[in-house]
Amino acid sequence: MKNVLVIGSTGQIGSELTMELRRQIPEGNIVAGYIPGAEPKGVLLESGPSAVADVTNAAQLAEIIDKYKIDTIYNLAALLSAVAEAKPLLAWNIQMNGLLNILEIAREKKCAVFTPSSIGAFGPNTPHVNTPQDTIQRPKTMYGITKVSCELLSDYYFSKYGVDTRSVRFPGLISNVTLPGGGTTDYAVDIYYAAVEGRDFACPIQAGTFMDMMYMPDALKACIDIMNADPAHLVHRNSFNVTAMSFDPEIIRKEIIKHIPDFKMHYVADPVRQAIADSWPDSMDDSCARHEWGWKPTYNLETMTVDMIAALRKRFGK
Ligand code: SER
Repeated sequence: MKNVLVIGSTGQIGSELTMELRRQIPEGNIVAGYIPGAEPKGVLLESGPSAVADVTNAAQLAEIIDKYKIDTIYNLAALLSAVAEAKPLLAWNIQMNGLLNILEIAREKKCAVFTPSSIGAFGPNTPHVNTPQDTIQRPKTMYGITKVSCELLSDYYFSKYGVDTRSVRFPGLISNVTLPGGGTTDYAVDIYYAAVEGRDFACPIQAGTFMDMMYMPDALKACIDIMNADPAHLVHRNSFNVTAMSFDPEIIRKEIIKHIPDFKMHYVADPVRQAIADSWPDSMDDSCARHEWGWKPTYNLETMTVDMIAALRKRFGK
């Protein structure tokens, strides 16, 4: 991995992954791909090349790949779960037609491709506790349907054409840099902002609803380590279960209260997000990722909470 195109570089993962790749590969071209209206700014814009990279425009992607001699594509363009339910056709167009464009270019120009999958690739009849790597995947949401299809299509391009596709099934990602937008796990980010800003938090996910989560530094590590893994050791490719922690709203609330004792939270009903959350695993088994490419998260709920609160206090001067 030397010259990399990050599609969706101003999004929740892309904004931090682009900077991390520039830190780790200073000799490479790490191109921040974006769509008009979501332009890179500040250090993301100034620290390396950027280009308009719309996944639905194959010719535009091919031009960038030639210009910067791209060998690896991080395909991070996607609508998150709740937004995808509101705009299912747009989600299909970005997630599926976009991936097909990328895989075809990757086949022709010999690029490796990472397209994140998600806990959303599982559904109501998947075993919810310690969800195995290989199990039933019958999601009911458009987000989930596109994620399973992305996994299958990526594996197909590997087995049929030898395109080096690899990916992970991310849990909810928690970061203090760029906010997620329209996901079901967003509450686990929003809760820290409310707590640090001294606001009462209206939690849209009900007590007792467990989901896997991960702190962004670990997610970046997963993105990079899987692409650097020795292919000889990979039994699976698209996609590996990866997780770092599993909690419900009460557990994270109690963890925050250790640092901010007067933090208050109440529950509000959000039937769309609740139904999605109920259909997802409570906790995933990520032992295949651990065995095949050495996956091991650094942060747990306690250490993530210390870091999140310190970072947000600094940012908001609290
Ligand atoms: N964080 C995503 C969502 O909630 C799941 O992959 O939609």
